[in-house]
Amino acid sequence: MLGDLPHRTLSQLAQTYGPIMYLRLGLVPAIVVSSPEWAELFLKTHDLVFASRPNIMASQYLSYGRKNMSFAPYGPYWRNIRKLCTLELLSNLKIEMFKPMRRKELLHYVELIKSSAARRSAIDISAKVGSLIEDMTYQMLFGFKDDKFNLKSSMQEGLSRRMKDLSKIIDGFLEKIIDEHVRDAKTLQGQHRDFIDVMLSLMESNETHQEHLDRDNTKAIMLDMLAAGMDTSTTVIDWTIAELLRHPRCLKLVQEELENAVGLNRMVEEKDLPKLDYLKMVIKESMRLHPVAPLLIPRESIEDITINGYFIPKKSRVLINNWALGRDPNSWSSNAEEFYRKVYQYQHRCPRT
Ligand code: HEM
Repeated sequence: MLGDLPHRTLSQLAQTYGPIMYLRLGLVPAIVVSSPEWAELFLKTHDLVFASRPNIMASQYLSYGRKNMSFAPYGPYWRNIRKLCTLELLSNLKIEMFKPMRRKELLHYVELIKSSAARRSAIDISAKVGSLIEDMTYQMLFGFKDDKFNLKSSMQEGLSRRMKDLSKIIDGFLEKIIDEHVRDAKTLQGQHRDFIDVMLSLMESNETHQEHLDRDNTKAIMLDMLAAGMDTSTTVIDWTIAELLRHPRCLKLVQEELENAVGLNRMVEEKDLPKLDYLKMVIKESMRLHPVAPLLIPRESIEDITINGYFIPKKSRVLINNWALGRDPNSWSSNAEEFYRKVYQYQHRCPRT
């Protein structure tokens, strides 16, 4: 009934029925939120009531019984795992640690495009961006690129099978990767090359964040990062490039900004990012129109609650229509579908070409 693009169908329905709608998805009561004001009530004012996730089948099989971050039910484990990921895996220190690797991969990517351009041969930019992000993510998590185990193609093969079979295939790969890291740990003497090394140290110390960590926790968190980190970044880059190609004047302004901030004689570095305000705006604008998770990840209420006179029973599923929020006429003006809007006032204004 909702079609291939449910966020669009739900956004249309919201124009008739309003920014908060009640639907039944099979037996499950679902609330669909489609305006920034209502989203704030669910995600900020009453965030604790809606912090949990529904127990869906895919999450059971692919998260080792909801031991990952995205589908863990709200509670002490939910809190601890977030703290652990923020402090131990995604800290500034860890992100900096992988900077040389990211630089090397990016350099390789730029060289590839340059040589194709010199030969005047066509190149599939989306596919290349996809493998660039993939290579970076694998190295950050596991310390190697995917060509070692071919995890992705096995996963794609596995997608045609039943969820249970797929989870077995993935588990086999993750077990092998952990075994290799356990073997190498003896010679590394506490040194961390990647996220698995960090998780192994935490498993050994077993005091961190009051959580007893075992292999299943490690596998669930790694799978979460793999699923959450790869296609998201790739999609954002794809859409941003597509929008720049559709708006050549904006592309020109991005090029001018790069020329001024970086020059033409060296590659852009991560340290240049604070100087690239216009590029940042373009990326944000692209993410507004093309959010990677248009309905976010579903939430589930943990208790009955009444918000602005609407009664929402415990265990209701909540879908936040992020795609509709980015097009809300009250927030973004009546031409919210346009790539460029007044809200991004900038000295280099870029009218629609
Ligand atoms: C441009 C890149 C990215 C975008 C646009 C993006 C977007 C999102 C969105 C929209 C959600 C759902 C939030 C919600 O339902 O409340 C999410 C969740 C998540 N993302 Fe990302 N993400 C990106 C990159 C990454 C990366 C690189 C990682 C990890 C290495 C990551 C890890 C996660 C995790 C673990 C969650 C679940 C968090 C939770 O349940 O609280 N994401 N992301």
